[in-house]
Amino acid sequence: AAAAAAGDAADAPSRPNHRIKISVVGAGNVGMAIAQTILTQDLADEIALVDAKPEKLQGEMLDLQHAAAFLPRVRIMSGTDYAVTAGSDLAIVTAGARQLPGETRLDLLHRNVALFRTVVPPLAQHSPDALLLVVSNPVDVLTYVAWKLSGFPPNRVIGSGTNLDSSRFRSLLADHLEVNAQDVQAYMVGEHGDSSVALWSSISIGGVPMLSSLRESDVEFEQAVLERIRKAVVGSAYEVIRLKGYTSWAIGYSVASLARSLLRNQHRIHPISLLASGFHGIPDDREVFLSLPAVLGRSGVIRIPSVQLTEEEGKRLRKSAQTLWEIQQQLGL
Ligand code: NAI
Ligand code: 2OP
Repeated sequence: AAAAAAGDAADAPSRPNHRIKISVVGAGNVGMAIAQTILTQDLADEIALVDAKPEKLQGEMLDLQHAAAFLPRVRIMSGTDYAVTAGSDLAIVTAGARQLPGETRLDLLHRNVALFRTVVPPLAQHSPDALLLVVSNPVDVLTYVAWKLSGFPPNRVIGSGTNLDSSRFRSLLADHLEVNAQDVQAYMVGEHGDSSVALWSSISIGGVPMLSSLRESDVEFEQAVLERIRKAVVGSAYEVIRLKGYTSWAIGYSVASLARSLLRNQHRIHPISLLASGFHGIPDDREVFLSLPAVLGRSGVIRIPSVQLTEEEGKRLRKSAQTLWEIQQQLGL
């Protein structure tokens, strides 16, 4: 306990009276799921909401404020002007078009890049020291766009990336194995979406590597099951969008988990979208954002631990990087 207490003290914020402020841009399904999860998990002292629709924004703000008697004491503000976000520790961007049933995330590209040109510069100007967390899709390319438009160092600009895909992966593996998803360690990396890569080789259950603990005859059977699970992960957003029109709850929890690790300096490892140049054979001069597991803390990306990829996994990751890079070339940033 003494060691834990010493560790906590070392991680305590250097400004003890500092009030943690989180801004959420886009008060739609995703923005409000994130705001409400952050609120119930007591991760901020102040939450600022921004949206282009003033009435919807005011309504969402009042609705949250009316829950005050049931929640930690948090100041909730809103505005269409970015002045309301001034001094944010963390700025989360969810504004933008979402997929209609059948559309891919990449179909949203041009609409959301145009929108980011109006969102990112004022956000960065009002909170020059903030961490920037992009959620709008296509999240990897938009994280690159946010990095370029903000002028922030790359450790402070991340995308929610495959933190969500990895949760879906862990939950389906947990169902298959009949264990708790929290005991399944498994990563999806690469693009958030259609070309995401499942890292079979590093799956472990309660700390025991999964594939290497199987008899050789069982490996083939398990690999076929795992491939079905990977396809289900890639298809899961499409299924939810077909059924309810959008996804919101899982991304709300995914982003709240990132906010906790960042603002509470937890040094937890999350697969998130980051500047991946130089990793796993992606050329040093290729500025591309995609998801890799990273240690997150108060300064953003603290470290990118080395993960062993098989040859096939590395090949798929580089293909994902190539796809994203080619798309970025059309943007002229
Ligand atoms: P939504 O349509 O419910 O909300 C979008 C909000 O953005 C609206 O309230 C709209 O008024 C606002 N907005 C539009 N232009 C704006 C501007 N210039 N400034 C400020 N606000 C503006 O959409 P939803 O379902 O919340 O999705 C938002 C985005 O999040 C989409 O791009 C969607 O694809 C993405 N998404 C990403 C996920 C991920 O894992 N990265 C998961 C789920 C959704
Ligand atoms: C999701 O995966 C649509 O990117 C969104 O839920």
